[in-house]
Amino acid sequence: MLMPVLTPEGWALLNSLEGYRESEALALSTRLRGEGHAPELVSAVLTQLKFRSKAAAKFGPFAGHMVFTRAGLEQATRMNVAALHAGRFAAAGVASVADLGCGIGADSMALAALDLEVTAVERDETVAAAATINLMPFPNASVVCADAEEWLGALDGSGGANPDTSGTSARPSARLEGFWLDPARRVVSSSGSSRVFDPEAFSPPLSFVERLADTGAPVGVKLGPALPHASVPAGCEAQWVSVDGSLTEAVLWFNALARPGVRRSALVLGGGSAATGGGGESAAGGAGPASGAEGGRSPAELSSAENFGDSPAVPVAGLEGLTDYLYEPDPAVIRAGLVADLIEREFTAVGGRLLDEHIAYFCADDAVDTPFATGYRVLEVMPYKVKGLRRWVKETGVGRLDIKKRGVDVTPEELRRLLMTGQGKGGKGGKGGKATGGAGKGAGRHATLVLTRIGEERVAVEVEPLPR
Ligand SMILES: C[S@@+](CC[C@H](N)C(=O)[O-])C[C@H]1O[C@@H](n2cnc3c(N)ncnc32)[C@H](O)[C@@H]1O
Repeated sequence: MLMPVLTPEGWALLNSLEGYRESEALALSTRLRGEGHAPELVSAVLTQLKFRSKAAAKFGPFAGHMVFTRAGLEQATRMNVAALHAGRFAAAGVASVADLGCGIGADSMALAALDLEVTAVERDETVAAAATINLMPFPNASVVCADAEEWLGALDGSGGANPDTSGTSARPSARLEGFWLDPARRVVSSSGSSRVFDPEAFSPPLSFVERLADTGAPVGVKLGPALPHASVPAGCEAQWVSVDGSLTEAVLWFNALARPGVRRSALVLGGGSAATGGGGESAAGGAGPASGAEGGRSPAELSSAENFGDSPAVPVAGLEGLTDYLYEPDPAVIRAGLVADLIEREFTAVGGRLLDEHIAYFCADDAVDTPFATGYRVLEVMPYKVKGLRRWVKETGVGRLDIKKRGVDVTPEELRRLLMTGQGKGGKGGKGGKATGGAGKGAGRHATLVLTRIGEERVAVEVEPLPR
């Protein structure tokens, strides 16, 4: 689907068109065919226009000059996050980087934009072609279509196991100071593609990354945020990243790219930010801004020098502690295992306490404005029993209900439907996976319920979100 666009005619046609509206696609297609363009070309051009429009969420106005494959766009790192990756290499003084498995080149673009020499290696021909177009504005970047492991092995004659990163050899790999990898985490079969979670099933696998890191080279690797702590190699820094409250990735930083005194960290980004720094300004073992930002909430980072599981001891209060203010930590904080660290650092003065040592919700006596957690005022604590909750919905006139949960086995949408059925017009709730909504406009009050487990008790807490 990409190739027809890469002909002179296709390229000119694509770039003569701006914007994409699904509602106008048919008319546009008819017009372009009427002008004599081949149906295959018209279809390919429309597909690229559609991708560009979708890609604006990740790349802003740059998307309008890029080309994509469907999977390449889905897997591409969003621009502000790629800028943070690249900033790490620049801050460590790395001048040249091989991006091994570059996809459509989003991370490579960010590296090249910081004037680093970039060799972007991609084994899929079409995807490599997209990367070549996307990296055209950067004379300091080149694309190689090859299997990264074989390519590196061929450079070194080592099968990729022992690349020369000393800078003293005349071989080409000697020019490669650093390595960036964003391994593919999906396998394609006849029934479609599915996600893989075993780091050894990634392509390239984590063991290849570790072998590279063992040479002492600066290496960064982006992995899925569900990465088990047990899979994090000793000696690297692990950073979990969230954007607008959604977990996006875990990155392992090795050697010169790992910050002294940081074993694990949570980097919390607002979607509107166009962060450009190296993510390295916050004090190790502390909380603070990670880098500058233009627009949106500033990035904020929480980190610890301690190994996984070595968090400070904080009070665990049980059901009695479920009073005043309830907090839900950002998912990056939870995945980095930093909930207790957050409580100790920001909530000690206000009686911060866990409710159950296995549940991430925690409470405090007062409201605290923090980028690392969403706060709620506790209004009412009830047993989690459907019958009682249905009565509560009816008696208190709930017309719209948001449900959040942690540690209880329930589908919020289903429960909401169950609780709201019969509560007036629209009470059956909306379609889709959102656990928000309910009756029509003006048909009752808007309530938020938090469901959780404390020891053996299952509770439903009515809360009111704190303004942010
Ligand atoms: C997750 S994507 C990379 C996305 C990229 N970081 C970006 O932001 O655009 C992984 C890519 O690695 C490629 N890949 C997987 N194994 C490879 C290998 N052994 N050699 C080269 N490329 C590989 C896949 O084809 C895929 O395009």
